[in-house]
Amino acid sequence: MTEHEIARRRTLAIISHPDAGKTTLTEKFLLYGGAVQLAGSVRARKNQRASTSDWMELERQRGISISSTVLQFDYREWRVNLLDTPGHKDFSEDTYRVLMAVDAVIMILDAAAGVEEQTRKLFEVCRRRKIPIVTFVNKMDRPTLEPLALLDQVEEVLGMEAFPVNWPLGTGPDFKGVYDRPGRRVYLYQRRAGGAVQAPVSIHPLSDPAVRSEVSSSVWRDFLEEIELLDATRERFDGEALAAGGMTPVFFGSAVQNFGVDLLLDHFLALAPSPQPRRSGGRTISPDDSRFSGFIFKIQANLDPRHRDRVAFLRVCSGRFDRNMLVTHTRTGRQVRLANSAKIFGRDRETLEEAYPGDVLGLVGHSDFRVGDTLSEDPGISYEEIPRFSPECFAYFRPARSAGAKSFRKGLAQLLEEGVVQAFHLRKSAQRVPLLAAVGPLQFDVVRYRLESEYGAACEVSAAPWKVVRWVGGEVGAEALDAATSVSGMAFAEDTDERTAILFPDEWSCNYFAEKNPGVKLAPTPDDSGVAVAVSG
Ligand code: G4P
Repeated sequence: MTEHEIARRRTLAIISHPDAGKTTLTEKFLLYGGAVQLAGSVRARKNQRASTSDWMELERQRGISISSTVLQFDYREWRVNLLDTPGHKDFSEDTYRVLMAVDAVIMILDAAAGVEEQTRKLFEVCRRRKIPIVTFVNKMDRPTLEPLALLDQVEEVLGMEAFPVNWPLGTGPDFKGVYDRPGRRVYLYQRRAGGAVQAPVSIHPLSDPAVRSEVSSSVWRDFLEEIELLDATRERFDGEALAAGGMTPVFFGSAVQNFGVDLLLDHFLALAPSPQPRRSGGRTISPDDSRFSGFIFKIQANLDPRHRDRVAFLRVCSGRFDRNMLVTHTRTGRQVRLANSAKIFGRDRETLEEAYPGDVLGLVGHSDFRVGDTLSEDPGISYEEIPRFSPECFAYFRPARSAGAKSFRKGLAQLLEEGVVQAFHLRKSAQRVPLLAAVGPLQFDVVRYRLESEYGAACEVSAAPWKVVRWVGGEVGAEALDAATSVSGMAFAEDTDERTAILFPDEWSCNYFAEKNPGVKLAPTPDDSGVAVAVSG
């Protein structure tokens, strides 16, 4: 039973540049999976600055998706877990954490724009982690770049082989359907107003005159030439290269028109891996290991403003989860009963009785859970899936009114626990407020907004003069640090776990300090303590 449940699960995220069509495609997946009856509800709400997976007020105001939520739906025999990735422009740890929790990714390209900046950044993360990537070239119903040029761009810019699984019959207003290369059949779709219902589709052999009569002779000629060329040059699909991140299967379609959405889902779910084994120390934990385990990749406070609670999102890695089960919280060694588990769908939640590898649990309450923590029936498992990034933005936050100081402190403590930002206390400083540190500036906007909207604590933000932080590793004592040759503008600080760190105004001063003080080991994240930072030039 468990084996079957694992085999049918697919856990994925969609990555794209803003406006390429992530919300639309998500909604169409839900439509084809039967989870929404009429497409348009997600988009319609996004237009009022809200959508099923965009639930925060700030997201609504900006029309972006900052927080990640999970949508689960069934499609044919599959159980799909779709994790939302933040869609904003800033580099954010949140995005990375979500990508650590999936087994495959769909990368959407806008057919008129090709590979864009944000896609490239997200793609880099997937490649580093060797997450299989399937490409969906969207908006084929509008004027597009040449499909062959798009393939070349994927190969050149992203450095991976592109294997077209289907090929468009026409583009723009002439876009009538796609040719499925493995099945050697043409899928002709019909447009329906607003794309609210599944597009009626008919399937034909290439030689069917009904296909030929759909398009003009010049479109038909180009189409035949192109598929002949593809058969000669891109003939073999390499599943191993897909698994190793060296190849991406490419699909063409239009999310808005529902053209090719069914084919994308069918092929993607067949190609994407089922839940993959994960590493813990020197061991590999297989999903069919009978003991339950998983790691927390996100914490969200005030998900439901009516309840003011805190949800930890856990990706199940092995075994079967049953509500009320007793597990070990590996970091503290404590036994915890998981009674308040929920399936979260936007703001809605329902109690979850059981879950399998690949699923995501929303665990409500549990104030001591942190991002990166492992929960397991096997106390020996401790996953190291969540990377930490070195902050590059620093600012002081203080309550705008002294009356709000208490709620400011409470709210800030909560947000620090969620890992939205980090805090430092400067040594020998007159500043009474903590210095906050983030990977991207948008995180500060989120903190400011949430302090105000969730805790009623308006705050003032002032910039701080640092751009680089390094943690001091090894056994360097305070005296040795005092004796170190200092560089102009640097400052000593402590993080919330009382680990010593040094702040630098820029990369150059950091490197200069490292060069002058070879005995002081510096690391870009606290976990790497003791690793010397490479000194360049
Ligand atoms: P995002 O989540 O990646 O930011 O993109 P989103 O789905 O919100 O789509 C961005 C815009 O692109 C939307 O238009 C959407 O309708 C449009 N779009 C998505 N897929 C397709 C497609 O296949 N073909 C065409 N022609 N357009 C597509 P909008 O003007 O911002 O909103 P709306 O007024 O259309 O709702």
